[in-house]
Amino acid sequence: MGKLISNKRIGQLICLFFFFPISILMGQSQPEKPEPYRPAIHFTPKEYWMNDPNGLVYYGGNYHLFYQYYPGGTVWGPMHWGHAVSKDLLHWEHLPIALYPDSLGYIFSGSVIVDHLNTAGLQEGKEKTLIAIFTYHDSKGEKAGTSTFQTQGMAYSNDGGFTWKKYANNPVLNNPRKKDFRDPKVSWYAKEKKWIMTLAVGNHVEFYSSSNLKAWTYLSSFGEKEGAHGGVWECPDLIKMQDASSGKEAWVLLVSIGNGGPNGGSATQYFTGTFNGKTFLNDEKPEMVKWVDQGTDNYAGVTYFDAPGKHPIFIGWMSNWQYAQQVPTHPWRSAITIPRELTLIKNSKGFHLLSQPIKQYTSLLEMDISQQVKDTISLSDAAYTMQVDADLVSNDVNENIQLLEWNNKWGDTLSLKYNPATAEIILNRLQSGPGDFNPSFNRIIRGKRLQANGRLSLQLIVDRSSIEIFADKGSLVITALFFPSKPYQWVRVTSTSSKIKAISAKYTAIKPILQSAN
Ligand code: FRU
Repeated sequence: MGKLISNKRIGQLICLFFFFPISILMGQSQPEKPEPYRPAIHFTPKEYWMNDPNGLVYYGGNYHLFYQYYPGGTVWGPMHWGHAVSKDLLHWEHLPIALYPDSLGYIFSGSVIVDHLNTAGLQEGKEKTLIAIFTYHDSKGEKAGTSTFQTQGMAYSNDGGFTWKKYANNPVLNNPRKKDFRDPKVSWYAKEKKWIMTLAVGNHVEFYSSSNLKAWTYLSSFGEKEGAHGGVWECPDLIKMQDASSGKEAWVLLVSIGNGGPNGGSATQYFTGTFNGKTFLNDEKPEMVKWVDQGTDNYAGVTYFDAPGKHPIFIGWMSNWQYAQQVPTHPWRSAITIPRELTLIKNSKGFHLLSQPIKQYTSLLEMDISQQVKDTISLSDAAYTMQVDADLVSNDVNENIQLLEWNNKWGDTLSLKYNPATAEIILNRLQSGPGDFNPSFNRIIRGKRLQANGRLSLQLIVDRSSIEIFADKGSLVITALFFPSKPYQWVRVTSTSSKIKAISAKYTAIKPILQSAN
């Protein structure tokens, strides 16, 4: 954590110098739209700083979203758990802060479970107890140079998740002298009727078990020599899934890494394998790395506890530690990804995780504002979805074929290309708008398809300052932010290339549903 936190601090300082001039500039150029980057369908805090989604839990018809929140500024600071609730994962109601820092420290990331069997004995009335297990980060201990400043704490709710009390005997898991010891994700292991805590510990995860959520026993470690290690491991999630083709049980372990993602900075990798209640076994070679999302802006994502439906529901933080604290939004920073359904498929190369927008998302589509795009269309609002299908003439073409381009008359351009020879989708945001708030932001983002066949299918969700590309039914996902100096006015479909037999593109507007559309 030391390195990461100090990066965050450096970010705070940089922001003091860079953020204010940029925001003043934006204010001058766009007086009629004070919040041009505020998403229309992605949750953002009304104001101040947000990072990881926390405590994703479904109970009593409500999807709760807690999140890392600093209500004192638009950069990272002493962490609280912000709170919002939704019936459909799309329309969110802001609620008061759920957890405040206390004498044991800031409230870092963690999870919430429903204690159906009252294993912790904290149930008071009819409602099941909702229990939050999170990391306490003692900043004084960190400054003093100790190695025990992260411990796991507990809080509980007797009213379905709306109000919270801290457990009296915190912490529930002490620190065994490991500097990075955080982000507990608790799940229920039904076979043995016990709780499993998956914890990020430096360069690996550790599994702990408990019968009552208050006393935890170490089980095993995984990952020191597996997967990607460009940054410290954070925000793990152990998910029981089914192989979509055989129906057989399979386990997926998500692990975010603060640095070293496929396009630089933060990203989330996953492992597939088996879990027997004690140890996780990777079914791939240790050096194999698989990414949940190959874009730059999906980090610290985890899944819902007890969500209805067959598929786990995943939400990520739509940003990247490289520049999250400098993006030119005001008076808030950060949004969540569109909630996604995860499925697992098996092909000759092994298990592969697919992400697709939750089904109910289609209820936001304005079907009467839907049209085939022949060449260029004018964009009246910046929240829309596009379905693009391209038939490629040959897979040998080693050149970037232009597919789509977004522009405005002020010269900002975002472009999407495809290279059949490398099977890469290429999103170029170098000229997408003034990206000079941080040099790491200015980059070309590449994502590799699973199979390089001749039919490329893309579902895009564009929401003012973000694009989420779901290629080939979600087997490749690219999430990325962009900040045009003024909203893009046109999207142009390039159907003229001789490298493409046919391209069909359909544009559908999305109802702006969150915050003000300005
Ligand atoms: C990931 C992370 C977590 C930590 C939290 C602090 O983005 O660094 O590991 O709990 O953010 O806000």
